[in-house]
Amino acid sequence: MVSKKVENALNTQVAKEAMSSQIYLAMASWAEVQVLEGVAAFLYRHSEEERMHALKLMKYINERGGHAVVPALAKPPKDMKGIMDVFKSILQQEVEVTGEINSIVDLCLKEKDYTTHNFLQWYVAEQIEEERLARTMLDKLNLIGGDKGGLYLFDRDLLGGAARAHA
Ligand code: FEO
Repeated sequence: MVSKKVENALNTQVAKEAMSSQIYLAMASWAEVQVLEGVAAFLYRHSEEERMHALKLMKYINERGGHAVVPALAKPPKDMKGIMDVFKSILQQEVEVTGEINSIVDLCLKEKDYTTHNFLQWYVAEQIEEERLARTMLDKLNLIGGDKGGLYLFDRDLLGGAARAHA
């Protein structure tokens, strides 16, 4: 059984993961309109994964005697400043999520909820990977600079799933 405090924290995290999914979906749509097909495919996948992160939390809350809440979501920005800006925002979003997961892990220790602490280790590991992926993308874009041919290859690589967002 989860305590009310832990249940509330997990439900807040459900909303954060769902919002990440929403933001990445808007980015995917933007990339598709820019004919960056690989980037769009990557972002659609990433959006799906965030939805899965939210669902995994919801199922856990309900399994542990709580009640998972479906959150209201804000409308994300429609237009992006550019590809670099998209990946900078992703990294920032993921760093924030890591901080939020760590706060819940901390709360679990305070509440002596070792079951939820154990459950959250999956998210701790996932965040290391998500941040690494966003940093790698940014590093590649920095290398490319303003080179259009480089951007074409970057996009084509993503279409092939070479830098797959992972489940
Ligand atoms: Fe579910 Fe990208 O954090």
